Amino acid sequence: MSQITTHAEYLDPILAHHKLNQHNLLQILREAQEHFGYVHPEAIDYLEQQLQLPRSMIEGVASFYSLLYLQPYGEYRVLFSDNITDRMLGNMDLMESMCGQLWVEAGKVSEDGLVSIKTTSCTGMCDQGPAVLINNIAINHLTQDRVSALCELIRERVPLSGWPLEFFAIEDNIQKKDILLDSHFISGSALTEVLKHEATETLQEIKTSKLRGRGGAGFSTGSKWEFCRVAPSAQHYVVCNADEGEPGTFKDRVLLNSYADMVFEGMTICAHVIGAKKGFIYLRGEYRYLLDHLQAILQRRRQQSLLGNNILGYTDFNFDIEIHLGAGAYICGEESALIESLEGKRGTPRNRPPFPVTSGYLNQPTVVNNVETFAAASLIGLHGGAWYANIGTETSSGTKILSISGDCSHPGLYEYPFGVTVAQVLADCGAKNTQAVQISGPSGICIAANEFERRIAFDDLPTAGAFMVFDQSRDMFEVARNFVQFFKHESCGFCTPCRVGTSLLSNMMNKLANGHGSPYDFAEIEKLNELLLSTSHCGLGHSACNPVLDTIAKFRPAYDKRLTHKEYIPAFDLDYALSQARQMTGRDDTGAHLERIHVSK
Ligand SMILES: Cc1cc2nc3c(=O)[nH]c(=O)nc-3n(C[C@H](O)[C@H](O)[C@H](O)COP(=O)(O)O)c2cc1C
Ligand code: SF4
Repeated sequence: MSQITTHAEYLDPILAHHKLNQHNLLQILREAQEHFGYVHPEAIDYLEQQLQLPRSMIEGVASFYSLLYLQPYGEYRVLFSDNITDRMLGNMDLMESMCGQLWVEAGKVSEDGLVSIKTTSCTGMCDQGPAVLINNIAINHLTQDRVSALCELIRERVPLSGWPLEFFAIEDNIQKKDILLDSHFISGSALTEVLKHEATETLQEIKTSKLRGRGGAGFSTGSKWEFCRVAPSAQHYVVCNADEGEPGTFKDRVLLNSYADMVFEGMTICAHVIGAKKGFIYLRGEYRYLLDHLQAILQRRRQQSLLGNNILGYTDFNFDIEIHLGAGAYICGEESALIESLEGKRGTPRNRPPFPVTSGYLNQPTVVNNVETFAAASLIGLHGGAWYANIGTETSSGTKILSISGDCSHPGLYEYPFGVTVAQVLADCGAKNTQAVQISGPSGICIAANEFERRIAFDDLPTAGAFMVFDQSRDMFEVARNFVQFFKHESCGFCTPCRVGTSLLSNMMNKLANGHGSPYDFAEIEKLNELLLSTSHCGLGHSACNPVLDTIAKFRPAYDKRLTHKEYIPAFDLDYALSQARQMTGRDDTGAHLERIHVSK
């Protein structure tokens, strides 16, 4: 039996399940990886042949996603979530301890190939960190004892399926409910109501509700559905954005765990309005543990005639939902990158226009909405647009779910009518001596104590949901440095200003941290921000400097105490870097040296 035939044994069922569909390449690679813990080079040979795709394309896709590996990376692949909230809970000490116990250097594979340990971007468990992913499965509430127990299981080579179930427990942590979280939603109830009316009437209800997208940008949901509905095409699509990669955000995780019926029903209502037959939910790879649960709910909904053909007996209403798993790329939350990823490609944001409503999945009209937006659409389907518009404020109707983490006694999910003040939220979550709140994650805004009377609303503090609390003991410079590192790590690399700019920004923050900063660095950061704002291809590049600019403006002493030089010091010492070359060539003459450049005032 040849090697290829061996690979065929596990790849054929995967390929058959995906009907040899090239657009499912990412899903195929994910599933193929489960066999060896990495995508075997000969598996790529086989996929190349079966899917009729060039090897460069397959490798290009596999190398884009951080949860896919093209070479052996350990039987146990441990990824420590490295959001600032994990840091505040001591994740670095725990990682060091695990590396010590398993004799492995962070970022490397152990010599016996047993384990690798490194950091990854926020895994969406900030209310129950420090968190890790082991072979893509989440484990939270890490302590030294828990780390030692995990090391023992790894050393004994116990498969994850044999680990104590308590390790995998993930809590919802709902602390405050309002109309959505307290809705006691019955599956099918909203759809039954909606199907009594014409699709145009339902669209009108969504418009009357003034619902705006909950994924961050706050675009009118009614307008989005209408643009898509009128876009000429035989095929329209509904996509639920469950990529939830913004550090500090974890509300979609809870909605999908405990309110999935509302989300799927919202998608089905959307399908009715825009005339779609097919929907996708793009679930971030870090939420892999939710997959079976969601598949079971979809299956139950098919049995209840809430999905499939002739939904609830309406002859021309056919719609179904497929789940696609991401594989560790924050940029895939950006809707056009998400669509590329859904089509089995690298998650590179598209040029816009055209927007997804006219040219989305397979270039067909597509509505992309956030998980919470679809859940809210179900409530509107049930209770009507006017009811919903009455809640919240004039510009921001309804409620917003906040994911609260950091320095507070009760982290978790809090639902408020729009318009609530930050001060009220802080009081409710048990925050004391609060210095700052990061609203809407690193790409959002950092506010100081004199702004705590500001309101959560699209015209004041818009948010996708993250609400990270920092008390007076926290060093806001280090908060910003962690966020900048996140952007550097997550830049998709497509455009040079962002790819290089986020690296330069991170270098500048490291330079300040290492005591080589001078006031000139602030001007450099300003210049970099202007460049990123004017030349970046997508929102990631546009917002990469936000955390630094906000914290310089509001927490300047945290920076000033690091300025030990009055004169500019370059971040990179070229002369020192050349010393190795000098050694190798045996040269030490003046021509082999560079003078260090000093820029004086
Ligand atoms: C870098 C980046 C990451 C994003 N991540 C998410 C995400 O994880 N979830 C989400 O719903 N929207 C995310 N968005 C916004 C989406 O592009 C899009 O606006 C949203 O899914 C639309 O849904 P909504 O109208 O219901 O908010 C992101 C945008 C950018 C620029
Ligand atoms: S701005 Fe950054 S993340 Fe966006 S496309 Fe360019 S490189 Fe990729």
